[in-house]
Amino acid sequence: MAWKTLDDMDLNGKRVLVRVDINVPVEDGRVTDTTRIDRIVPTVDDIQAAGGKVILMAHFGRPKGKVVPEMSLEHVAQAVSDVLGQPVTFVDSDYAAAVAEMDEDEVLLLENLRFNPGEEKNDADFAARLAGLGDVYCNDAFSAAHRAHASTEALARLLPACAGRLMAEELGALEKALGTPDRPVVALVGGAKVSTKLDLLGNLVTKVDHLVIGGGMANTFLAAQGIDVGKSLCEHDLADTARDILKKADAAGCEIILPRDIVVAREFKAGAASEVLPPDACPADAMILDAGPETVAYISTVLDNAKTLVWNGPLGAFEIEPFDAATNAAARKAAELSKAGKLVSVAGGGDTVAALNQAGAADDFTYISTAGGAFLEWMEGKTLPGVAALG
Ligand code: 3PG
Repeated sequence: MAWKTLDDMDLNGKRVLVRVDINVPVEDGRVTDTTRIDRIVPTVDDIQAAGGKVILMAHFGRPKGKVVPEMSLEHVAQAVSDVLGQPVTFVDSDYAAAVAEMDEDEVLLLENLRFNPGEEKNDADFAARLAGLGDVYCNDAFSAAHRAHASTEALARLLPACAGRLMAEELGALEKALGTPDRPVVALVGGAKVSTKLDLLGNLVTKVDHLVIGGGMANTFLAAQGIDVGKSLCEHDLADTARDILKKADAAGCEIILPRDIVVAREFKAGAASEVLPPDACPADAMILDAGPETVAYISTVLDNAKTLVWNGPLGAFEIEPFDAATNAAARKAAELSKAGKLVSVAGGGDTVAALNQAGAADDFTYISTAGGAFLEWMEGKTLPGVAALG
């Protein structure tokens, strides 16, 4: 799909409404991870360098159309200012007056858009009100592009619209990973439940050459093949679905990689006594908490021969030792191959970035998406409304 970038727009003297995603973790009033803010810097800098005035619009949390003081973007404004290295004026009401009075090099940050019920309803009037504040619309919030909200969808149709630098970068990386990838392509999908990733697995088996299934999801697939998984996390009611996915993969020529050995324990706590067993040997009173070394060795061989990797979710209970071993080892292998220029690796969604950071592997991945839900929906092959509206 073709969309315009900042380079295609005349920004000189223009008020640019920039939709960003600064839905960052905040604890005790402090932003604990500025990654999403860091990543909007090129867009803000480039707009200002081209003579445009930056008006930032964003959501925070899920206030459901009401004013929830703890979810005010006021708490994030200082962090945005620190990261941008310039003052940021937070505006909680009378946006029109603030915009009319803004200086050329001033950055405005509007209050949490979701305080207005029109935002999540993709309301035309609310979008028109926002449109009245600017001359150009720039969407730099890939991670919110799966939402058809007034600031991500309706507004894009009311003003000359373009993608910001981060949006363009995310779309470029994702296209390289699943759109027109170098083959073989490996997808590694982990996490607790198959039920949340059904569409994802169904789409991936038609697109990739090898699909590694890890985490609790793998137990559901093992159980669907008649294997007793003891007390492991497992969605027994999805056995038929799991078998359908295996069949679909077979028909599409996609190799499904399940654990070849398992790490089991009787307690879910750090340092719990554990043992490595064959996949069909989980004791009735034990839980599978990680994939074993043989599985990791096999994944490593597959990665050695691959050109592209898409990663979403951990292979085991990575939050607690020693059940982080398979995730760490596979992540480090992917990082090493990426650093050597042998693999294009793209990761995103939910717990993924935390797991890769913990493994010390994130910096060497080719691309780490800022998106959670949007990354998953994109991997499911869905059209993201915020991206479609830019076309
Ligand atoms: C995210 O954190 O993934 C985005 O900011 C979207 O938030 P939402 O799931 O509340 O729409």
